[in-house]
Amino acid sequence: MNQVHIFDTTLRDGEQSPGVRLNMDQKLQIGRALVDLGVNIIEAGFPISSPGDFESVHTLATELKGVTICGLTRAVTKDIECAAEALKPAERRRIHTGLGVSENHLVNKLRMTEDQALEKGVAAVKLARQFTDDVEYFMEDSGRAKKEYLYRVVEAVISAGATVINVPDTTGYTTPDEYQQLFADLISNVPNSDKAVFSCHCHNDLGMATANTLGGVIGGARQVEVTVNGIGERAGNTSLEEVVMALHIREDKFGLETSIDTKKLLAISKMVSELTGMLVQRNKAVVGANAYAHSSGIHQDGVLKERSTYEIIDPSLVGAEKSEIILTARSGRHGLKHRLSELGFSFPAERFEELYTYFLEMADTRTEVGDGDLYELVKK
Ligand code: KIV
Ligand code: ZN
Repeated sequence: MNQVHIFDTTLRDGEQSPGVRLNMDQKLQIGRALVDLGVNIIEAGFPISSPGDFESVHTLATELKGVTICGLTRAVTKDIECAAEALKPAERRRIHTGLGVSENHLVNKLRMTEDQALEKGVAAVKLARQFTDDVEYFMEDSGRAKKEYLYRVVEAVISAGATVINVPDTTGYTTPDEYQQLFADLISNVPNSDKAVFSCHCHNDLGMATANTLGGVIGGARQVEVTVNGIGERAGNTSLEEVVMALHIREDKFGLETSIDTKKLLAISKMVSELTGMLVQRNKAVVGANAYAHSSGIHQDGVLKERSTYEIIDPSLVGAEKSEIILTARSGRHGLKHRLSELGFSFPAERFEELYTYFLEMADTRTEVGDGDLYELVKK
């Protein structure tokens, strides 16, 4: 129970990002990197959605070993049969089925009563169980649903054979304390809750996806559904690297482990960004270009004396080379001296002071003083 399973949905929910389209080779490349990274489950696609998606799921199921391959379905017979077919070659296969649970979805989208939707969900799980003993049930829009109804759905689908219960905050509506309480309540109020693993699936509409996911884990979830770089519908899904590093760095708080090789996080982030064309913002947590860069004099002085003064993550833990000292108009003497000495220069105190004055003048005219600028500077 101290393991959190990493369910990666970069190739399904992530690929649903507007503007993203991956071809088969690119999916395979990402799939292999995900296996190498150590994820437990790869959601490879939504097989009924198009012949191309069927082919992708089938190919990933054939090629990738040592991981569970999952296919998404609606709670519809033809979807489930199609997913079962696509997943056939997998070493381990999971069917992910379900439907909406909030009043909004029941009334406006599904046009069903609670009981009708419940019945349909139960039938879907029973059918999926004919193809695999690993069936995950998603309750779309759980974040806005009535808890009493969720208790009924969870109990019924577990009795029908669901082994994983996905509690998606589909619209990114909940807050971390609410999402945590939702898991705690589900686990304590559903009599057969011990027969399934509970899973977090969050969207980032209010920028709380990572916090909500961690809240869910504190509430008892032991699977997290994430994407590399947090790509996904609208504002995206929970970011894999953020959750993994939060669990790792704050092991003292969570007391939980994942099977992820954190040293490969930066490489897969770059690969997914290049293949999807989704740029990673510079200040993105864990994998952004600025995540281990220091530009203010006070911070540079601290980091150069002892890295941990301003860094809680050792960059080598995520596969980054080292912390970076960026020279700008906010940098101090310590930062300048450090970079000059890395370039092989050392100056007597008086000359250094002179160069520092030139440096500040130069730095005020540009965003960053690079090595080329420093070579010019020392000639003055
Ligand atoms: O956000 C969501 O509810 C989903 C489900 C289909 C799992 O992506
Ligand atoms: Zn989603």
